[in-house]
Amino acid sequence: MVDVATSPGDGALVCVMEPDRAIQGLLTRLLRAEGYRVVTASDGEVGLRVVAEHRPDLILLELGMPRMDGYEVCRRLRADPRTVALPVIILAADSAVEEMVAGLDAGADDFLAKPFQQVELLARMRSAFRMRQVVRRMEEAHSIVAALANAVEAKDDKLDGHCRRMAHRAARLGARGGLRGPELEAVAYGALLHDVGKIGMPQQLLDKKGPLTEDDRTILARHPEIGERICAPLRSARAFGPIIRHHHERWDGAGYPDGVRGEAIPLGARIVAIADAYDAIFMGRPYRPARTLDETYEELRAGSGTQFDPALVPIFLAEVERVEAGLPSSVPLPPAALLDRDHVEPAGQEPTPVAR
Ligand SMILES: [Fe+2]
Repeated sequence: MVDVATSPGDGALVCVMEPDRAIQGLLTRLLRAEGYRVVTASDGEVGLRVVAEHRPDLILLELGMPRMDGYEVCRRLRADPRTVALPVIILAADSAVEEMVAGLDAGADDFLAKPFQQVELLARMRSAFRMRQVVRRMEEAHSIVAALANAVEAKDDKLDGHCRRMAHRAARLGARGGLRGPELEAVAYGALLHDVGKIGMPQQLLDKKGPLTEDDRTILARHPEIGERICAPLRSARAFGPIIRHHHERWDGAGYPDGVRGEAIPLGARIVAIADAYDAIFMGRPYRPARTLDETYEELRAGSGTQFDPALVPIFLAEVERVEAGLPSSVPLPPAALLDRDHVEPAGQEPTPVAR
């Protein structure tokens, strides 16, 4: 039986996670009087289920809860892309500095010691909601990135769905290789936007059916640098710009635009290069037929140590097997890696394999 009480109203939805029924009731009455809607939970496990089901706008969290304490709740919320930015205010039984620091380290936004003044609680909540607005604006920036990826797929019909599929596979490889947080997000963004420089390519070149001339190749080889320049105004491009620039470099140094080799190529670009080749071989292109999965694996293995990082190829192939088998990612993936899905998958779960 899920321990939830909801109250009507049009205000923001606040989740109160508090085992003490008297305090829970007090907070519920106070918040309702201020126009908030309220859901409650008396322990951490139930609290996480309530959050998943009701998608609150803010959480008031008591640290000392049965079954799962507030620290663990906080850590799990921050590990899940859907709740990573959800405001959390800790309500603590005392104002011990160690407790406060541990709570903030676990990912809480603010800390209030009991007994607290109502006006102070409400002021802290308003402050948390203002921060939420800032985060929402940043999420809009994420939408801009997704729109850019759509623009390049629309310009080059050979790329239909390619960038979004790649973002997912590249992030799976990055996660399997141990990347987390901002580094993993940079790989997803870099994969999503790797060919964004094709926006700057002549349309007749992208539409060309026959073999490319030397001049065509020279122009086309500019797309990594153009892509890096297009994204430069985005603040997060500091992390993923080099991935875009170097996604056509080769492990043996024979790639472009800079001819860098081995580990001098940014790790994210080495990851994207493998995911890009996989998609081109397996899905086929107008100038080459699609290959079977076994043939695709064989081509990638053949390029290991010359075109591709030999340490990454076996990890990628093992992870593709997991994707094809419908197995989940080892860690929650950033939203930019999930744009090929119809919906955001639960953390650590992958509902459907990528459509071919
Ligand atoms: Fe490219």
